[in-house]
Amino acid sequence: MVRERMDDEKRDFVSIDDLGNEEILGLFRLADAYDEDLRAWASQCTGSILATLFFEPSTRTRLSFESAMQRLGGSIISANDGEVMSAAKGESLADTVRVVGGRYADIIVLRHPHEGAARVASRFADVPVINGGDGAHEHPTQTLCDLYTLWKEKGRIDGIEVLLAGDLKYSRTVHSLAYALARFGASLVCVPFPGLEIPKSVLERMQRDWGADVTRGEFSDISGLTPGKDAVYVTPHKPHQESLFTQITPPAREKIDAIYMTRLQKERLERDLDSKDYPSIDSEFLKETRFRDTRVMHPLPRVDEISYDLDQDPRAIYFRQAALGVPIRMALLAFLLGVVKLDAPLPERSSRPVYRSDAGINCANPACVTNGEGHRYLAPEFTILRDSPPLLRCVYCDLEVSPSLVGHVASKKLHRGNAAEAKRILPERRVYFEDEGQADSAGFGTGATS
Ligand code: NCD
Repeated sequence: MVRERMDDEKRDFVSIDDLGNEEILGLFRLADAYDEDLRAWASQCTGSILATLFFEPSTRTRLSFESAMQRLGGSIISANDGEVMSAAKGESLADTVRVVGGRYADIIVLRHPHEGAARVASRFADVPVINGGDGAHEHPTQTLCDLYTLWKEKGRIDGIEVLLAGDLKYSRTVHSLAYALARFGASLVCVPFPGLEIPKSVLERMQRDWGADVTRGEFSDISGLTPGKDAVYVTPHKPHQESLFTQITPPAREKIDAIYMTRLQKERLERDLDSKDYPSIDSEFLKETRFRDTRVMHPLPRVDEISYDLDQDPRAIYFRQAALGVPIRMALLAFLLGVVKLDAPLPERSSRPVYRSDAGINCANPACVTNGEGHRYLAPEFTILRDSPPLLRCVYCDLEVSPSLVGHVASKKLHRGNAAEAKRILPERRVYFEDEGQADSAGFGTGATS
């Protein structure tokens, strides 16, 4: 369902879903115009200020945003070291962005280690907030660069086949890209390094929100890319199905439009991992005929995943991909600042009800902003995906949770999640719980649990 939106409502770019497909294509066309002469736009955003707030290391994202803003004639203010910012004195992210968005800057780019942090910032800042990467969750502006590059190289996105390789668990660029490719009707083959599979929550969202068909199969047809064999295949626009995976033996891939390599996100690993067999590709690898027209992409920085001998190969497009980050970010900034309008419909917004309560279930993701930075001032908040048995999705980090118990806010009676009595409670009167212990400590469960 399309939600009505006021003309003057600010637009944020926190998730790739904050822009509709037509809007994204409109930004590509705008970026093309900027790219023809990057120096010709220096009066477009005169007087506007971009604040870059980076609580994690960055080279490309921060510098390309700063370059983009300056090429548009705007200026920048920067706080790029959490250690010297007031966060080190205990200031919340909510307060920081309220201050920065109140007359200091007209737009904010935030990079933060907690999943959902950019969503929090967008709610507290009066100016548009752009997600420059929130933990292992999303990195939607990298996806704009990736898609823009693919669109220029291949002339379209629907119907193309992209192979995602390496660390698919913690690579936020992969998650946003996977959502976008599913939406645009591309097919994906996810070939993870063992132990770093694409998160179930990402696959569930592609399936539930975009009707993608997710199948699991053995992957053995491109030797050298993975020491494991488990692959996930995502194909677009198949009828909705209840189970997440159907088992198939997929056909060998005859045509691969792009290989998207990722580095091992060492800084996010929860435990040691033997990475000696982490995939790496080189000129030799690309000799097979099916790679004749394959583009090799990487969000960068690379470590050892792509051999330097590939850099001169015309199929290696990772530096072009990084360069296109400037015109596409110029287009995004100009659009969010309201300097240019796009002739495109607003993105579809979910009409699913939202559940928010201090009392009951918490997000189960320890990296979620509600369990970190925001625990002092954020109540857990979920969209209700299904009533019975209940299924909720965290609005900040997208993790799905299945509460086992439902209580009535007034009577404090407790019911099993799938009980008929639970379904009869109006959504706004429900409180969801993980287990009886949690319900008990909130004072629920005085009646018999049905
Ligand atoms: C990526 C990131 O920060 O997630 N870098 C980038 O913005 N281009 C990828 C990475 O760090 O591996």
